[in-house]
Amino acid sequence: MNIFEKDAEFVANTYARFPVALASGKGSLVYDENGKEYIDLSTGIAVNTFGIADNKWVKAVTEQLGKLQHTSNLYYTKPCADLAEILCNRTGLKRVFFSNSGAEANECAIKTARKYAAENKGTEYNKIITLKNSFHGRTVTTLAATGQEVFHKDFLPLTEGFLYCEAGNIAELEDLVANNRVCAIMFELVQGEGGVVPLSKEFVNAIFKIAKENDILTICDEVQTGNGRTGELYAFMKYSVLPDIVSTAKGLGNGLPIGATMLGEKVKDVLIPSSHGSTFGGNPVACAGAISIVNRIDSELLKEINQKSEYIINALKNADGVKSVSGMGLMLGIETYKDAGEVIKYCMDNGVLIIKAKNKVRLLPALNIPQDLLEKAVEIIKKGCAL
Ligand SMILES: Cc1ncc(COP(=O)(O)O)c(C=O)c1O
Repeated sequence: MNIFEKDAEFVANTYARFPVALASGKGSLVYDENGKEYIDLSTGIAVNTFGIADNKWVKAVTEQLGKLQHTSNLYYTKPCADLAEILCNRTGLKRVFFSNSGAEANECAIKTARKYAAENKGTEYNKIITLKNSFHGRTVTTLAATGQEVFHKDFLPLTEGFLYCEAGNIAELEDLVANNRVCAIMFELVQGEGGVVPLSKEFVNAIFKIAKENDILTICDEVQTGNGRTGELYAFMKYSVLPDIVSTAKGLGNGLPIGATMLGEKVKDVLIPSSHGSTFGGNPVACAGAISIVNRIDSELLKEINQKSEYIINALKNADGVKSVSGMGLMLGIETYKDAGEVIKYCMDNGVLIIKAKNKVRLLPALNIPQDLLEKAVEIIKKGCAL
C-alpha cells in the first residue's frame, strides 16, 4: 500500500487531506515524497513560525531533548519557568498555565473564568458570551464556545452556558450582558477559521467597556493570531487593550505541541493546586523550543512582518479575480471570484501551498519567509486567481 492507501485504511477519516504526502523541508520550502518542491504559505496552519527545521529552534529543542525530555508537573524545570517569565514580561499578564493545544488553552481560560465568577460573584454567573462565526476548538466545551452550529451537530448535548453574539453588534452584546449572568466574553481578534475576519476597533473597545462596567472577564483567543502572526507579538497589542486572559498555542511551539493560558492581575491566583493540571503541559522540550521562538519575535521582525503584509495586500487587492483581501500581518484571507478550492489546486500544482478559510484562500507564511520566495509565491497566486 502507498501512503494514501494506508492512511485511508488505518487513520481515522477526520481530514479532507490534499493529495500530497510531505516528506521534508527547510525554512519556507517543503518537498513531497516525489521530491516536488513547494513554497509553503500554510505553515501547518499558523504553526511553523520560522518555517521547517529552523536551525535555532532545532538546536534549542535537541539540546533539551538530550538533557531531559519530560518530568511531569510534580517537579520544577527551568524551560517552563523561563518561558512563563518571558511571556509575562512581554505581555503584562501575570501567570501562565501550560497545556498542549489551542483547545486545551481555551478550556483552561473557561475554567478560570467560571471559578473566578463562582468565588467573586456567585456560581450563577457562569454564562460565557462568544461570537458567532468564531472557532475555539473541538473538545466538547470549546465546541460549545465555537459560535458555528455546523460544528455542533452530531455532538449534542454540549457544555452548557454559552451565548453567541454577532461580531460587531454592540447592542446585541449589551442586551446579552443585561439579561444573563455573564462571567466572561471570549473572542478572536481576527476570526481565523471563520474567514480571516478582524473585529473592528469600535467593537473591541465596546467589549472592554462593557466588561469593565459589569466585572466581566475578557478572554482573548490568540491561538492563531498570537506569536507575531498579526505583526505584533499578540494581536491584543494591535488593539491597545489588555485582556484578563489570553490563550495561545500553534505558533508558540513552531511544531511541537504547546498551549499557554496567560492570566492577568484579576485572575492570576484563581487556579490553585488540584483545580487544573496537565501531564504534558509545560514539557521542557516544547518550552525550550518556544523560548527560542518568542525571543526572536522582536521589533525588527515585527516591522518586517508588517512590510511583507503590506506587500501581499498591495500585490493582491486589485489583482484580476480578487474580490477583497482581509486580515492582519501574515494572516490574510483572499476572497476570489473563482472557487477558493480551484485557486488552491492551481497553486499546489504550481508549487505553492495555501489553504482555505470558509470561502476564502488563506495565507499564513512563515514570519521569516524570504522576500524572493514570497514574491514568487504571490505571482503564482495571482495567476491562480485570474479569471
Ligand atoms: C482561534 C483558535 N482557537 C482554538 C483552536 C484550536 O486549537 P487546537 O487545534 O490546537 O486545539 C484553533 C485552531 O484552529 C483556532 O484557530
